[in-house]
Amino acid sequence: MAGFFVVFEGGDGVGKTTQIDRLAGLLRAPAGGGFEVLTTREPGGTQLGQELRQAIMHGGHVAPRAEALLYAADRAHHVHTKVRPALERGAVVIQDRYVDSSIVYQGGARGLGEEVERISRWATEDLVPDLTIVLDMEPSQGRLDRELDRVERETAEFAALIRQAFLDLAARDPDRYAVVDAARSIEDVEVDVTAVVRAAMAGAGLGSADAPVGPAADPGLEPWGTP
Ligand code: TMP
Repeated sequence: MAGFFVVFEGGDGVGKTTQIDRLAGLLRAPAGGGFEVLTTREPGGTQLGQELRQAIMHGGHVAPRAEALLYAADRAHHVHTKVRPALERGAVVIQDRYVDSSIVYQGGARGLGEEVERISRWATEDLVPDLTIVLDMEPSQGRLDRELDRVERETAEFAALIRQAFLDLAARDPDRYAVVDAARSIEDVEVDVTAVVRAAMAGAGLGSADAPVGPAADPGLEPWGTP
């Protein structure tokens, strides 16, 4: 496909939204290549997806298999109506969460196993990202002077599980994944993210690997090739 598909994954609160916004700004700028960039997310990247997101997150209990299928339905519609058409136009799609989130949360943490990955592959007709960036951070437990209570302990254990599951996925396919240490300043993370994306895009024939890296607001940026 003509475009480039980059996905951000990681636990909650690792800074995906901030990095996505910055990367999009950089790539859209004339000095950054003047690419058409679509930023989007799952769940909820389409109108139907918004309704499915409501259904998943309405607060009440959703049976784990129903939840997995709702994520897959959101994904199927999103990829078919928004992501694939953008890639076919030659756009850069920068997406917040994708199949790996289902593998990690529903398949791993909720215990539904490998079937979850197959369902997502079917839902997306095997659309695989060109690059997945795992923003990695040790789950913060805050500085507490007391023992964690049961709920806090479970939350911390869950976050540790999620973190490890994303790292395991990245280790499985190092050519398509980059793990970026997200426990640093926004600007430092951005420099690494930009460098990784630029190199991968250059490998796909888009832009130049020698282009400058962020921060996006840097007025000294040089052009880095035509889209
Ligand atoms: P977010 O939109 O703030 O990232 O929140 C989405 C939540 O949904 C997050 O806790 C992870 C979860 N999620 C899954 O469990 N499975 C999925 O397939 C996706 C896309 C998200």
